[in-house]
Amino acid sequence: MKTFVHSLLVLAIAAVVGNTTSASAQDKATLIAKGEKVYKAYCQTCHQATGQGLSTVYPPLAGSDYIKSKPKKEIIGSVVNGLKGEITVNGKKFNGVMVPLPKNYTDEDAAAVITYVYNSWGNPGGVVSVAEVKAARKK
Ligand code: HEC
Repeated sequence: MKTFVHSLLVLAIAAVVGNTTSASAQDKATLIAKGEKVYKAYCQTCHQATGQGLSTVYPPLAGSDYIKSKPKKEIIGSVVNGLKGEITVNGKKFNGVMVPLPKNYTDEDAAAVITYVYNSWGNPGGVVSVAEVKAARKK
């Protein structure tokens, strides 16, 4: 009986969702919610709660012209492989080191958190897939 009710519920939800556009919008929302958790647990220490960065040490992710102007693959690569050397973000120079995303975070976590950043604080939006994370990882 329980399974039957459950199946009905799934059918009802499928009927409401109806088309693939809203289904993928749902996937995106799930990804962003997961990414927010990873952000708060890890990235926020440096880039701060609203992505504003910290003085001349940690660059902003909020409205970052760096994120906007670089190919997605490069941004993903910076997060999973690390980034060092001089960069300019929103007119300010930074010359620090970001270590690679620690190994206890999966490719799914990486896809989620970068999707979260792309969809927060005036950044350009879009979705980062697990396949894109795998492709950006240094072999
Ligand atoms: C321990 C501090 C630290 C943590 C944690 C950290 N970063 Fe960074 N991040 C940096 C530093 C420092 C730079 C600049 C590196 C340079 O100067 O080359 C940077 C640069 C960046 C950039 C490119 C520059 C910009 O501001 O647009 C992105 C994107 C970024 N980080 C995303 C993330 C994401 C997403 C996470 C979490 C998964 C994260 N960072 C975690 C320190 C950190």
